[in-house]
Amino acid sequence: MSQTILIESNEALKKIYSLNLHTFVGTDVIYRANADDALALLRILPQVSLVITEAKVGDEETAQKIHEFIKEESLNTNLIVMGDCPSLHNEVVCLQEPVSWENLIRQAASHLGVTIQDSINRVKPDYLPVGLYYFYDIQRTPCDIYIRIKKGPSDYQYVKRIHSKDVFDKSVIKKYEDQGLKEFYIPKDYIQYFTTFVTNNLVAKLEKSDLSLEDRILTTANAHDIVRDSIQQIGLDEATVDLADAGINSMVKSVQNSPEVANLLKFLFSNKVSYAYQHCHLLALMCHYVLSKQSWYKEEHLQILSFVSFFSDVTLKSHQQMQISSMRELAESNLTDEERHQVMTHALEAVKILDQHPDADDYIKTVLIQSHGKVDGIGFADNPGEELHPLSRVFIISDCFVKTLLNPALPSTKKDILPILAARFTNPSYQKIIKALEQKFI
Ligand SMILES: [Fe+2]
Repeated sequence: MSQTILIESNEALKKIYSLNLHTFVGTDVIYRANADDALALLRILPQVSLVITEAKVGDEETAQKIHEFIKEESLNTNLIVMGDCPSLHNEVVCLQEPVSWENLIRQAASHLGVTIQDSINRVKPDYLPVGLYYFYDIQRTPCDIYIRIKKGPSDYQYVKRIHSKDVFDKSVIKKYEDQGLKEFYIPKDYIQYFTTFVTNNLVAKLEKSDLSLEDRILTTANAHDIVRDSIQQIGLDEATVDLADAGINSMVKSVQNSPEVANLLKFLFSNKVSYAYQHCHLLALMCHYVLSKQSWYKEEHLQILSFVSFFSDVTLKSHQQMQISSMRELAESNLTDEERHQVMTHALEAVKILDQHPDADDYIKTVLIQSHGKVDGIGFADNPGEELHPLSRVFIISDCFVKTLLNPALPSTKKDILPILAARFTNPSYQKIIKALEQKFI
């Protein structure tokens, strides 16, 4: 889904614009208060497709500042200005006030390359974007594949790049990636057909017993990214359940044969594996390590914790959201209210999604809902207690360890991370788990 930044100081209008942009144009709306806030976000999310802003916020020349930034950084981001901005008249669309939401929606649709269907006045894109990672593990596609080219300020052309009979490999896809391409486009009528084809191919590959460890980790990472994407777009359907199952089984296999953590990290970083999967894989690995030191350990425990790890952050949309592991970090983050709410409730939301999974039993759901130390699945406990399930305690410590390890602003050696955990998790069984991590890693 595309992302749009909206700067509108009138609360009522903000809600009306946002609701209609989401419903009719299918874009995710992120609120920002002024130009500086919007620029700060564009620096970390340069792929934002559209900025809709008031011409001025107070005395600030908001539209002018954003326009200059987009030009300076050569971003592909479109700009729509609400209100009069004489200096930009010839460069961007400036809507006269009062701005009707219908007019705004029409302009946004045109800038984002989606078509309004007259009968219901509802916008549906003719082509849907799919991330390049969908193509890593297939050698042909069941339909033609397009790229989107910008022809004018609000005009797009879709050019066929891969024909349905073409045979290709990952190096071809990597070449597009190296040129900065993030998404291919698929005619909307073929999207289901395409994703089923990719899913079936991935499941077949993951179930091969002779897959090399490197190939297994990279293919599982793709499966994980596609599962997250599918769940966020359409929910957990049968094909996604099959892909997740194959992904979890494959992850368990690679965790049991893992190289040393330092080498694994090097491999994950050099292959540009997504943060979501780096976290998921390392978390399963840490759980495996802690479990293997427990006298009560049974093989099924690793399966459960790997399952929880695979789905635990599945509803979160950004790297920044996934990094958070305490209420303080959440409060200090510069996430929007909506993004904060998503972080607060993500354990609970993941449990709701697993209601559609036939193998997600109460055991799995208990550990998942307690994955941040709270029995209701909302928020983060600073120092969780002994009332939690023993597997939840293993999961919580492992999760915190991995989040610290992956955060460039925090210590990255075991020697430095463990004292931080020991100071936070003071209850006896948590201290015992931290002690287990003091021993030599795999
Ligand atoms: Fe989480």
